[in-house]
Amino acid sequence: MKRIAVLTSGGDAPGMNPAIRAVVRRAIFNGLEVIGIEHGYQGLLDGDFIPLGVSSVGDVIQRGGTFLHTARSEEFKTPEGQRKGLMNLHKSDVDGLVVIGGDGSFKGALALSKLGMPTIGVPGTIDNDVAGTEATIGFDTAVNTVIEAVDKIRDTAYSHDRTTIIEVMGRSAGLIALWSGLAAGAESILVPERKDDLQQVVIHLKDEKRREKRHIIIIVAEGVCSGAEVRNFIMAETGIDPRVTVLGYIQRGGAPTAADRVLGCRMGALAVDLLAAGKSGYMIGQQAGVIKGIPFEEALLNRHELPTDLYNLALSLAI
Ligand code: ADP
Ligand code: F6P
Repeated sequence: MKRIAVLTSGGDAPGMNPAIRAVVRRAIFNGLEVIGIEHGYQGLLDGDFIPLGVSSVGDVIQRGGTFLHTARSEEFKTPEGQRKGLMNLHKSDVDGLVVIGGDGSFKGALALSKLGMPTIGVPGTIDNDVAGTEATIGFDTAVNTVIEAVDKIRDTAYSHDRTTIIEVMGRSAGLIALWSGLAAGAESILVPERKDDLQQVVIHLKDEKRREKRHIIIIVAEGVCSGAEVRNFIMAETGIDPRVTVLGYIQRGGAPTAADRVLGCRMGALAVDLLAAGKSGYMIGQQAGVIKGIPFEEALLNRHELPTDLYNLALSLAI
């Protein structure tokens, strides 16, 4: 193996830059050359290739987002798109590829691996919804960003005795809502895995009002419904008019936390080590604290599950 390539795909996540840096530096440390592919799989199809050296990844460890840019590509989902991607890698004499992204990106990585291109995945998504790993790069930063915002909103909610709704990200996974709700002491947490809880929020709210609880914080993941829809439901059922804050991309950006930087360094470096050892078709995951390679099939076969113990803990503490 002489030359490897790296790309970021799907939603950006804080910590992707430290992961790219680790791939590049570990590869060069081991005598390999590195190509960066800009704009994810779309860039792979369009030939957006740039050489990366030691100094190309200087001054990026502290930056959110991904300096390689990211994209979503419908064309790459097709067998023709994947063959074209493979051809472009061969044209640039690439012998191995590291894909940093979520489980969608790993389906593409698995396809390339099956076509004969040694490919390793590094889980980078704020959602932490990739099966087979306890942590994905970006989750810790996103949760910390959310609780910082909720703490600020709480000051005003407290001062004005108001009910507030905070809409967070997570189209199909509720871990950001659950972790930030638990960490910020929210009264109600709505997650896509349990969509029927809206009525429960109202029952809880009425009970809290009866007990003269004055300020109430409700966190809703966007995959359940919008914060505005929760507000309308509460208004119709109780007459209470809550404020809504949509955090949106604020929680996808920003400097990565130490945890995400270290995870990026560890996962990026191991991805290169596996390629150098002749491995392909693996995702890097953390299991019982250990960072290791897990076959894509294993990660993609299993569905990500919301931890019931954490959800029940949040319920029991929000009385
Ligand atoms: P994430 O990687 O964060 O889950 P997406 O699900 O949007 O994000 O996937 C990112 C990209 O991965 C898609 O735009 C597409 O190019 C590629 N991809 C997703 N699903 C597949 C698939 N089944 N086969 C091949 N490529 C896929
Ligand atoms: O995967 C990260 C994520 O932020 C999800 O939580 C969200 O559902 C999705 O990306 C939204 O992505 P975009 O706004 O880029 O379409």
